[in-house]
Amino acid sequence: PIGAHRDDAGRLVIGGVDAETLAATYGTPLYVVDESDARARARRLLAAFESAAASVGTGVTVYYAGKAFLSSEIVRWVTGEGLAVDVCSGGELAVALAAGADPARIGFHGNNKSPAEIERAVGAGVGAIILDSEIEIERVAEAAALAGRVQRVRLRVNSGVHASTHEFLATAHEDQKFGVSLERAVELGTRIRSHASLEFLGLHCHIGSQIFDSAGFAESAERLLAAHAELARVAPLPELNLGGGFGIAYTSADEPTPIEQIAQGIADAVASACRDHGVPVPKLAFEPGRSIIGPAGVTLYTVGTVKPVPIEGGWRHYVSVDGGMSDNARTALYGADYTVRLAGRVSDELPALVRIAGKHCESGDIVVDADYLPHDVAPGDLLAVAATGAYCWSLANNYNHVPRPPVVAVRDGRARVIVHGETVDDLLARDAGLTATRTAPN
Ligand code: LLP
Repeated sequence: PIGAHRDDAGRLVIGGVDAETLAATYGTPLYVVDESDARARARRLLAAFESAAASVGTGVTVYYAGKAFLSSEIVRWVTGEGLAVDVCSGGELAVALAAGADPARIGFHGNNKSPAEIERAVGAGVGAIILDSEIEIERVAEAAALAGRVQRVRLRVNSGVHASTHEFLATAHEDQKFGVSLERAVELGTRIRSHASLEFLGLHCHIGSQIFDSAGFAESAERLLAAHAELARVAPLPELNLGGGFGIAYTSADEPTPIEQIAQGIADAVASACRDHGVPVPKLAFEPGRSIIGPAGVTLYTVGTVKPVPIEGGWRHYVSVDGGMSDNARTALYGADYTVRLAGRVSDELPALVRIAGKHCESGDIVVDADYLPHDVAPGDLLAVAATGAYCWSLANNYNHVPRPPVVAVRDGRARVIVHGETVDDLLARDAGLTATRTAPN
């Protein structure tokens, strides 16, 4: 995080609290989130998009994508900085509402929303439901009619732009589960308009995640604009939502384009396409998650064992820590890269090639595939893995009955738990064979 540095003794300090103190107080593994850093990123991103939108004569709404990491505290931070909230399940919706987010500034996503989720979203008065399929148009129209409401909706389309990222993270090509084909946008948009219980806000497209330049977004916007313009010529179509996906640096090899440049590139592409099609520039919307919360998070681990293994041309040190793929599934899932550092001390020893492994029962349980730590890294050392704020806690699991760690927020030298960790007793409490007899529903 921006607020992380080393003190005179070489110990890592995050948000004014030193890592050793955090580890001693809360134990490891521990997720640490730097509140000032997350807020600063939210502010910077909003300012970048507001100024880019204003330069082409329009406005913008920036939704924080809660899937990256959601808790009531995070909702308060991002809404406090002027962002709206994007949720994609009944659970995420419940957190946003419980945290006091304005329902009118919540967008509700999902490719297979349950009837109960749709009913809840409509009933809560969410500002937009993003229709992900043809089937869902009728479902939401009916639910809104039943509730006696007019529900604002967007239609998620695939622009056909294949973002250059991991296959599981690219989402706007045809052969995947999300959205409808761009070719059907006008037909389905017209169908949406035929329902009195729906108000059509505009098209939505999310091309993928961890994307480093504006070219894919611009290309996607240009493609969407043809359908947008056709629909806008029939009746006003106020918005265009281009999703999230702005990349962050996980290692020093990652060089994301500054968000101001990306925002301007997108705004210019939209404005120029609108000129070509002779339609007004719509209000823009974005849904960043990772770029706000990712770099603000650090995970602390304690080293348990170190095993040097001969490899071609030298040695690889397997450094096993007290967490693993249960608190960070990204390396195992996507081959993600991370950066690891000693957090409790500095060392003059020469660097050794390390692989940070977890404690789970499979060899793919890797947190950091390749990085360097001082040669004397040893059991008991405290390690910090950077940029774990997004999609780590939210993808956390209980593989091998390992409890999920707590999340601690740091700010101005103070730390507080914002999500409690689990204990083994918590896990045992859910084992029906160990708790009071439960009768099956009849
Ligand atoms: N909007 C939509 C419709 C999305 O599907 C996503 C991410 C976002 C916004 C936010 O994207 P972001 O700005 O955070 O890149 N678990 C994967 C990432 C999955 C992204 C899913 N959708 C990972 O850990 O890399």
